[in-house]
Amino acid sequence: MTPVYDVVVVGKANIDYVARGPRLPAPGEGLTGDAFQEAAGGKGANQAVGAARLGARVAIVGRVGGDARGDAVVRALQSERVDVRHLSRDRETPTGVALCQVDELGRKQILSSMGANARLSAACVRDAAEVFRGARVVLTQLGIPRDACLEAIRLGRSGGARIVLDPAPGLPLEDELLAQIDVVRPNVLEAQALTGVRIRDRQTAREAAQQLLRRGVKAAVVQAANLGDVLLWRDGEVWLPRFELTPIDATGAGDAFSSALAVCLAEGKPLPEAGRFASAAAALATTVLGAQSSLPRRAAVLQLLATS
Ligand code: RIB
Repeated sequence: MTPVYDVVVVGKANIDYVARGPRLPAPGEGLTGDAFQEAAGGKGANQAVGAARLGARVAIVGRVGGDARGDAVVRALQSERVDVRHLSRDRETPTGVALCQVDELGRKQILSSMGANARLSAACVRDAAEVFRGARVVLTQLGIPRDACLEAIRLGRSGGARIVLDPAPGLPLEDELLAQIDVVRPNVLEAQALTGVRIRDRQTAREAAQQLLRRGVKAAVVQAANLGDVLLWRDGEVWLPRFELTPIDATGAGDAFSSALAVCLAEGKPLPEAGRFASAAAALATTVLGAQSSLPRRAAVLQLLATS
């Protein structure tokens, strides 16, 4: 019998090549860096690992190639006890890759190649229908083909799960889709793509969140760059705390946030508590180079919350 999952993640799985240098290169420029890492990544795989490290029972639905990079992605997920039965293998297309560049302030830029992620179809998601039954939260993103994302939302809703959308990469979305989302968590650029509001400060972040609620989402967490995140839902609003830690690499911080939020929702925690926990997880994820390597365990998050 298939177990009931706290979190089912439907999303991308990659191998990340991370290089750190003094600054991000300008177009046409070559720079010498001082650190390199090759590791499993991709928003979906990161979020699955993030949720598992926080103690959730997690299944992932995604697609990798039949290559050695795909093997490495599978091993990384299995080592965190993520159910990978529905991480399908594509014998014709290589595993997706991401080239991540990080500067000495921890800022990042990423160029990815979709590879097998582009062949995650709605049928692949339907094949995984068993893991959606009884699932508490379905966490998905826009980085996979749209039909696969829609099917994940449909199956999640029909099984009674709450739907968390990490709307990366930023794209405009129609209201019918937004109305099916329980919590959406855009960063600054994604919020701008979704709403058209140019986020410059707390007020404009709030305006973007208000627009998302008017268009049907039940709750929105919108980043106001370095000014924190506003969490808005139908009955309230809070600004989530910022945890002042020295950043090494922002890669994976958004994934830490989304997965922590999903875990708390699966546990039935109220939104403000879930948001605070997710903020702490994201802050910790900025203190380590790389994405999956930086995702914190529950004890570290609780310790940061207790000491801040
Ligand atoms: O969110 C971080 C992830 O984005 C990286 O692991 C990389 O694979 C890109 O998809």
